[in-house]
Parts: sequence; structure tokens; C-alpha cells
Amino acid sequence: MVNASPPPSNVRVDKPTRRDLLYIATAVTGVAGAAASLVPLVDQMNPDASTLAAGGPVDIDLGQVEPGGQIVILWRKKPIFVVFRTQENLQVLQSRQLLIELADPDSKYLQQPPYAKNWHRSLTPEIGVFVGICTHLGCIPQFDPLPSASDPAPNWLGGYFCACHGSKYDLAGRVFRDVPAPYNLPVPPYRFTGDTTIRVGENPPNEDFDFSTIRQM
Ligand code: FES
Repeated sequence: MVNASPPPSNVRVDKPTRRDLLYIATAVTGVAGAAASLVPLVDQMNPDASTLAAGGPVDIDLGQVEPGGQIVILWRKKPIFVVFRTQENLQVLQSRQLLIELADPDSKYLQQPPYAKNWHRSLTPEIGVFVGICTHLGCIPQFDPLPSASDPAPNWLGGYFCACHGSKYDLAGRVFRDVPAPYNLPVPPYRFTGDTTIRVGENPPNEDFDFSTIRQM
């Protein structure tokens, strides 16, 4: 559904390759440092700084993300992961092998709008949108979508790994059992504004989800 086009220089693109070293460096600095490092990117991408300062919505061109990859933008000074999941990724998200390892596979806790309370935690299965802040102590989990026998953790199926204290999330932002993080990654309000564009910060028509009601950021 998404046409690949060269990303502008102002958007962070995480390709579906193994560990992004720059991203690890960002994660260990914590949220504030990471957010600051991304601000110049978003300032250029969005209409004006006053809109960002007011917490206004942010439009995203999905053509910038390739299958299996993701981009990272800022919304309300928070990193927002926008991931383009492949069919293989979606199969893993529904696999028993994964589900039995998750703490909240059915999104019981209010960490997402009602329209994302489903197995893929999003409006459409392919596109996932998450606040990229670990629900343990606020580090930025690294995007590590490729399966591996040992890296970054044994029997890794692809997802997000928080190097700070070892919390693990799948590619729907669902947290694993027996890790420090207690909740799934938050899903912000968002809607499609076209076939290949989304707006973070606005609900779809006839939805009134209040992001401030989320259980834990
Ligand atoms: S902040 Fe992520 S595991 Fe501690």
C-alpha cells in the first residue's frame, strides 16, 4: 500500500537491518536526550515550531518507510515509532510461540485507543504507531525487527529491545512477561488522511479517545 520514495533528510529512517548503532547510543541517553536529538528533524518536517510546541498533530508520509522498516518522528516531544510490518511480521504477531510469552497479549490495560485494541494494536495490520518510550523507566527501545537465535535476546522473534534493563516488546508494542517494563508501549491517537499518509495526534472520525487517560507513558 505504500510506495517507496527517497526519504527527506529530516526524517529518521530505520531500515529492516540488524541493530542500529546510532539508535542504541540514543537509547542509553534517556528520553530527554533522545528527544532533543530528534527535534531538528521534525522542526523541518512540520509546518512550524508553534504547532509542535502546542502539541498539534503531525502528518507522516508513509512512503518514507519500507516494508520491515520504520521511521521515528516527534509528537508532543515524544518519539513516535511508525513501523511497516511485513506479512511475515504479522504471522509472528499471531503465533502461539509469541503469544504465550506476552504479559498483555490482548491489550487489557489502557495503553491504546479503543480502535487499536486488537491483535495488531493499530488501525491496519501493516502500519503500527507507538510512543517509543519504555514503560519501565523511560528509555527508548531499539528497533530490532529481524529474528535471531541469540541477538539481542535468546529466541528473538523481532520487535523492540530496551537495552537499559532488558525489557522486550513485539512489533505490536506488546511487552513480554518477566521483564522490568509493566505495560505495552502506548499507542497515540492517529488517523489516516490518505492511502499513504497518517496524522498523529488526531482520532479517526467519530472517535474521541483522550490520550491523557492512558495508564502509563
Ligand atoms: S527503561 Fe526499559 S527496561 Fe528499564
